[in-house]
Amino acid sequence: VLRVQTIASQEKDGAIPAMFVRAETEQPGMTTVKGVNLEVPIIDFSNPNEEKVLDEIVEASREWGMFQIVNHEIPSHVIRKLQSVGKEFFELPQEEKELIAKPAGSHSLEGYGTKLQKETNGKKGWVDHLFHILWPPSSINYHFWPKNPPSYREVNEEYCKYLRGVVDKLFKSMSKGLGLEEDELKEVANEEEMHYLLKINYYPPCPCPDLVLGVPPHTDMSYLTILVPNEVQGLQASRDGRWYDVKYVPNALVIHVGDQMEILSNGKYKAVFHRTTVNKDKTRMSWPVFIEPKAEREVGPHPKLVNQDNPPKYKTKKYKDYAYCKLNKIPQ
Ligand code: SIN
Ligand code: FE2
Repeated sequence: VLRVQTIASQEKDGAIPAMFVRAETEQPGMTTVKGVNLEVPIIDFSNPNEEKVLDEIVEASREWGMFQIVNHEIPSHVIRKLQSVGKEFFELPQEEKELIAKPAGSHSLEGYGTKLQKETNGKKGWVDHLFHILWPPSSINYHFWPKNPPSYREVNEEYCKYLRGVVDKLFKSMSKGLGLEEDELKEVANEEEMHYLLKINYYPPCPCPDLVLGVPPHTDMSYLTILVPNEVQGLQASRDGRWYDVKYVPNALVIHVGDQMEILSNGKYKAVFHRTTVNKDKTRMSWPVFIEPKAEREVGPHPKLVNQDNPPKYKTKKYKDYAYCKLNKIPQ
């Protein structure tokens, strides 16, 4: 498999293969809103005014489906180490990365890879990735965790420990924001069996950043996604049909509301439509963790949120069936 990292390293005269060049209607150079001071909200988790924090989370989840949190409980050195071990892995010689490549024909997402099938419009994203499960331990396949650098495992386990605290807080706030008791959302979502799937995105420098996309526009299938970026700008969120840069804030966590949370909230919270752009000179990286139901779990609007006046807006279905329909573009 030809990796984008390899294509980028062999690139000559600033030309890139046509399969990466987007139609004008999609090119970031043509479609990004510039110089507007509308931005994805930044929420201070250490604010003692809990009601205000809650209001901000609810408003951001309704209006954008995305927010950033600062002064959360994950120490900055834990985030820095997560970033440096991931970067070290992607900087290994190609043969070494291929040792944990996603096997051909595998039904799981896990492994090092490059999205093979083109999107419907025939274009490819300027990005390679690594997927592996981070939690629960019983679902982890360590084959897909880099052996190099040797501290990879310990660093990721430490990040995960803190992440669980953040997930717990977010579920509690989002539950209260729906008028439920703080534990009701995670009870229905069954916190015990939720899976944390880590993806590392590696976007090499690209000679024509205005013409390509990293990841094309999509919503995440998860309940929530918690993302750490590196310092290179690239994430964009859509609101009212326009694309806005999500400002890089050191040490912030970017929270995406995913499809399952939109469903669970019966549409009160909105899954964010987002995409990524790439940089001319610098490598962009990001570490989203998808907080997902287990495959067999049925997800539908929370029973307390539906009644005669508020009929369910979404079907209840097993997560694996939801995922199958989404991936194969079958209407839900
Ligand atoms: C994604 O959400 O699909 C990628 C986000 C990022 O790289 O920032
Ligand atoms: Fe995403």
